[in-house]
Amino acid sequence: MDTASGAGQLDLRPDDLPDGLVIANRLGLVTCFNAEAARVTGRRPAEALGRPIERALPLEDPDGRQWWRVTNPYRGLATRSGQPERNLLLPGGQEVLVAARYVRSRPGGPVHRLVVTLRGTDARRRTERSNAELIATVAHELRSPLTSVKGFTATMLDKWDRFTDEQKRLMLQTVDGDADRVTRLITELLDISRIDSGRLELRRQPVRLDEAVRRHVKTMINGGHRADRFDLRVDGPLPGLWADPDKIDQVLGNLLENAVRHGAGTVTIEMQRVPPSRTRQEGMAVTVSDEGPGIPEEAMHRVFTRFWRGSERGGTGLGLYIVKGIVEAHGGTVTVGRSTGGGARFRFILPAGTPAFLS
Ligand SMILES: Nc1ncnc2c1ncn2[C@@H]1O[C@H](COP(=O)(O)OP(=O)(O)OP(=O)(O)O)[C@@H](O)[C@H]1O
Ligand SMILES: [Mg+2]
Repeated sequence: MDTASGAGQLDLRPDDLPDGLVIANRLGLVTCFNAEAARVTGRRPAEALGRPIERALPLEDPDGRQWWRVTNPYRGLATRSGQPERNLLLPGGQEVLVAARYVRSRPGGPVHRLVVTLRGTDARRRTERSNAELIATVAHELRSPLTSVKGFTATMLDKWDRFTDEQKRLMLQTVDGDADRVTRLITELLDISRIDSGRLELRRQPVRLDEAVRRHVKTMINGGHRADRFDLRVDGPLPGLWADPDKIDQVLGNLLENAVRHGAGTVTIEMQRVPPSRTRQEGMAVTVSDEGPGIPEEAMHRVFTRFWRGSERGGTGLGLYIVKGIVEAHGGTVTVGRSTGGGARFRFILPAGTPAFLS
C-alpha cells in the first residue's frame, strides 16, 4: 500500500469513493467495481467482476471506436502511465468521464493493475466538455465558407473586367450563400453555448403546435418542395402547450429539414396527446418520419451529440443537439428510431398543460 499518501492507515473502502472505481488485474479481469461505478454504468458489480475489462466496461470514443482496443493498456506503449480524463460513451450513448492509470511493478514493465475512474458527466459537461475539440471543429467549420468567400472576392477584384455580369452574379451568389452559412453556424453555436451552460431562456406562452407544424410545411412547400411529400396527421383533440414558440419552431424546422434533406419519400408528421401516467404528466407527442435510408442502428445513440453527421451531405451536425437541448429545457424528451417504411423516425414529447392562471 502506498503509505506516502496515507492510504495504508485509512481503511478506505471502494464503495466509499465518490467516483466510480474499476480495477482490473494483470490479466485484464475486473477485480473491483464499486458502487458508484455501478450507478454510473447501470450495471451490477456481480455482472462485471471477473470479466474482461472490455466486456465489463465497454466504452466508445465519440468517433465510435472501441476505447479499450484504441488505448490497448496491456500491450500498448510500455512507457505509458495511463490515460488522461476523457469523455467517452457507454453502450446506449450515455456520456461518462473516464481516466485510467496503468500500474506497473517497475518502469517499462508489464501492467499489473489497471485502475479506472468513472464520473457521470451531468454536472461537469455543462461547464467544460471538450472545449478544445469544440474550438477545433468550429474553426474548421468556419474556415471552409470563408475560404470560398475569400477566393471569389479576390478573384473578382483581381480580374474584374474579364468576367461577364453573369459570371460575377454567380460568384456573388456563392459568396452570399457562404455568408449565410457562417451566420447560421454562429447562431447555432450561440444556442449551443446557452444549452451547455444552462442559460437557455424560455419565453413561454400558449402554443398551437398543429398550427406551427402547418406553417412549417407551408414554408417548405413555398420553398420548392412538392406538397404531396408531406402527410400531416392530427390524432384527436390536442392539449394546450405552454412553450417558447421560437424555440419550438427551431425544433420543428430542423426535424422537417432533416427529413427532406437526409431522408426521402413522404414525410409523415403525427401529433397526438399522450395521456398522463404515473411517471409523467399529460404530454403532446410529435413524430416526424420519412422513407429514406434512416439512421444506422449503431449510430442511433450518437445522432444527438454535437457535430455528428451520417454522411458528407450533412450540414454542421448541430441541429439535433440543439433539438434535444430545447426539448429537454421544456421538460420533454426526444428519441430516434426507425419508421415502418425503414426511414428515420424522430419523436418528441413535451409536457402539456398551461399554467393555472391561464385556465
Ligand atoms: N431524417 C433523417 N434521415 C437520415 N439521416 C438523418 C435524418 N435526420 C438526421 N440524419 C443524420 O443525422 C445527422 C445529424 O443531423 P443534425 O440535424 O444534427 O445535423 P445536420 O442536419 O447535418 O446539420 P445542421 O442541422 O446543423 O445544419 C445528419 O447529418 C444526418 O446524417
Ligand atoms: Mg439538421
